[in-house]
Amino acid sequence: MLEVRGVHTYYGQSHVLHGVSLDVERGEIVALLGRNGAGKTTTLRSVIGLTPPRDGTIRFEGERIDGLEPYRIARRGIGYVPEDRRVFPELSVEDNLNVVLDRDSDWSVERAFELFPALEEHAHRLGGQLSGGQQQMLTIARALVTDPDLLLLDEPSEGLAPTIVEDLETLLENVIETGITVLLAEQNTNFAFSLADRAFLLSRGRVEWDGTIEELQSRDDLIGRYLSVANVGTE
Ligand SMILES: Nc1ncnc2c1ncn2[C@@H]1O[C@H](COP(=O)(O)OP(=O)(O)OP(=O)(O)O)[C@@H](O)[C@H]1O
Ligand SMILES: [Mg+2]
Repeated sequence: MLEVRGVHTYYGQSHVLHGVSLDVERGEIVALLGRNGAGKTTTLRSVIGLTPPRDGTIRFEGERIDGLEPYRIARRGIGYVPEDRRVFPELSVEDNLNVVLDRDSDWSVERAFELFPALEEHAHRLGGQLSGGQQQMLTIARALVTDPDLLLLDEPSEGLAPTIVEDLETLLENVIETGITVLLAEQNTNFAFSLADRAFLLSRGRVEWDGTIEELQSRDDLIGRYLSVANVGTE
């Protein structure tokens, strides 16, 4: 469904992605894992066209999308939830969903509320008055009602209390059951392990490993080198 090949992405003169390749099949949940600054966000931004690659190709459903404007890429069926979870603060929860809803799709605000009952409770509250966890749910729901085939999620668990992360996990399991395909950038290894089928490990703008989550869970060497921060400072 998504095929990223040899992507090089820059911020001005700064060369951040060095030949990133990855692929996501329809129906899969693929995790993009790596520490701070590894290039997870830049990879997602490259796919959606916010920082277009300077070299390499990106195909979605077999067609080149690199070089297209972000709104055109989104229209092809890619939803993007950025890490800053920007809700419309002056709009109610309901209207945050209404303004982006794809009315030609099966999605409705009611259906979104069925999937996210916690949001229904606050349907008339302003986006800006929600807690961090509720805002994260709202940004995910808002991406879903645009009816994407592929959802790019950038560190949805970041900054949320552990109990809220558990709620979010349950909720995403329900979202996944709708059959959507997801590319999930995460630093929270356990969160990604419980949701994803496969993973790509990023370090310094390069893919260092890819394989199944099952395999990764048994690879303490990889987890230690590219993921956990538990040993920092003990050497
Ligand atoms: N706007 C920018 N201008 C210049 N350099 C940037 C910019 N945004 C990110 N970078 C650099 O690009 C590299 C990759 O950053 P990126 O945000 O993609 O990493 P990340 O894996 O998403 O990290 P995090 O887990 O902290 O979100 C880092 O070295 C970062 O400093
Ligand atoms: Mg990031």
